[in-house]
Amino acid sequence: MQELRVGVLGFGVVGRGVVELLLTQGALLQQRTGVRLRLVRIATRTPSRNGDLALGEVELTDDLQRVVAAEDIDVVVEVIGGLEPARSLLEQALRSGKHVVTANKALLAMHGADLVPLAVANRCELMFEAAVAGAIPIIKVLRESLAANRIDQLYGILNGTCNYILTEMRERGSSFADVLRDAQAKGFAEADPSFDVDGIDAAHKLVLLAAIAFGSYPDFSQVHIEGIRHVSDVDIQWATEMGYRIKLLGIAKQDAEGVELRVQPTLVPVSSMVASVEGVYNAVFVRGHAAGTTMYHGRGAGERPTASAVVADLVEIARNWRVGCVGRVAAFSCLSENLRAFPVRATDEWRGEYYLRLAVADRPGVLAEVTRVLAEHQISLDAIHQKGRSAVAAVPLIMVTHATTERQIRLALREIEGLDAVQETPRFIRIEPSVV
Ligand SMILES: NC(=O)c1ccc[n+]([C@@H]2O[C@H](COP(=O)([O-])OP(=O)(O)OC[C@H]3O[C@@H](n4cnc5c(N)ncnc54)[C@H](OP(=O)(O)O)[C@@H]3O)[C@@H](O)[C@H]2O)c1
Repeated sequence: MQELRVGVLGFGVVGRGVVELLLTQGALLQQRTGVRLRLVRIATRTPSRNGDLALGEVELTDDLQRVVAAEDIDVVVEVIGGLEPARSLLEQALRSGKHVVTANKALLAMHGADLVPLAVANRCELMFEAAVAGAIPIIKVLRESLAANRIDQLYGILNGTCNYILTEMRERGSSFADVLRDAQAKGFAEADPSFDVDGIDAAHKLVLLAAIAFGSYPDFSQVHIEGIRHVSDVDIQWATEMGYRIKLLGIAKQDAEGVELRVQPTLVPVSSMVASVEGVYNAVFVRGHAAGTTMYHGRGAGERPTASAVVADLVEIARNWRVGCVGRVAAFSCLSENLRAFPVRATDEWRGEYYLRLAVADRPGVLAEVTRVLAEHQISLDAIHQKGRSAVAAVPLIMVTHATTERQIRLALREIEGLDAVQETPRFIRIEPSVV
């Protein structure tokens, strides 16, 4: 039996899941690949934190070089996370001819454009199914199952923590701060939640999906990123009342003039499938010119779901290796020489419908002042809502616009913020009425 020797870097949530799958599913993996995937060594900062896994002959070390520089390792699994030392370690592994599997979306989003050519030059595989949407095999789908399609749009819920927070805010009628605190206590949010709630994690994933779908290297600087900190319980209540849900969506669109890459809170119709994706679940929707829109739903994180994707990459490497082939499927779908950079459409040119929330003094004439400014910027309204009376505090004024440009919205809101009656910075949330 041919043997592929595996070394794992990092022994945290995902590392543990990978080790467990390799140790318990060896026979099944062997039946499927014709190769024995032998776990040789795990290198991590604190090897003493082994938990209760029976590792048998597997070596546990704090020396990362015992994986990346070792003669007896063929494939390196990187589940340390972060940019360094992960980047240097993977470069070293690829230079010494080792295949690499990683779950590290941050690293690929920032340095994929350097790592992929390095893998190609060294005739190594660089696989990263687990980096996007955990157990959902979306990278394989984009590269292989939808390979016949021109893809002009994909969107999805790419961060389970944000989706959990937004779901809980709606179901419990609680504020962002309260739900975040609770999510941290339950382990659904990190102690430092900024990567998740500020949209950065979703943006890392979006830029990888867009690179594969559109045929470019990932360029993280192209993504417009807004998180969910400014989504209030008032927004959630009003969205519900008007027949919408608020979701943090990653959206990638391309047309002849360029691409739009954005992570943003978005109002979606309550009847849409994306609205029904709740809690920690992820979902990705892809529009291919031949296939139409297809949807992929599942667990986007967690020990076993993420490990499932990592080990699937190991299986693919084993299958390729058994028949003497490498680089069968290019990392970003198109061959490196065919990847192109796309112009990015300026945010000012984006067009769509908008939800607006103002906090205004409750006195006659305020609505007329606000609508006058909107009309001066050619913004017409689909709906206006104002509830509650308050002699002292501001009351919310909620409006939904017809399609307009982002430039007009920003100019109008700047002017509206200067009105005497307006007591807080106006907020807007984009609406995507045509999601499925
Ligand atoms: N968790 C998920 O559900 C999930 C889902 C998809 C993708 N990912 C990605 O998978 C990767 C790993 O995530 P995770 O949740 O498993 O992280 P984690 O639980 O924090 O585990 C990281 C592991 O790497 C070790 N480590 C960190 N820095 C190190 C260093 N400089 N040298 C040696 N060891 C180091 C840690 O050791 P110590 O414990 O001693 O610090 C720990 O064993 C990340 O790129 C993440 O984005 C995670």
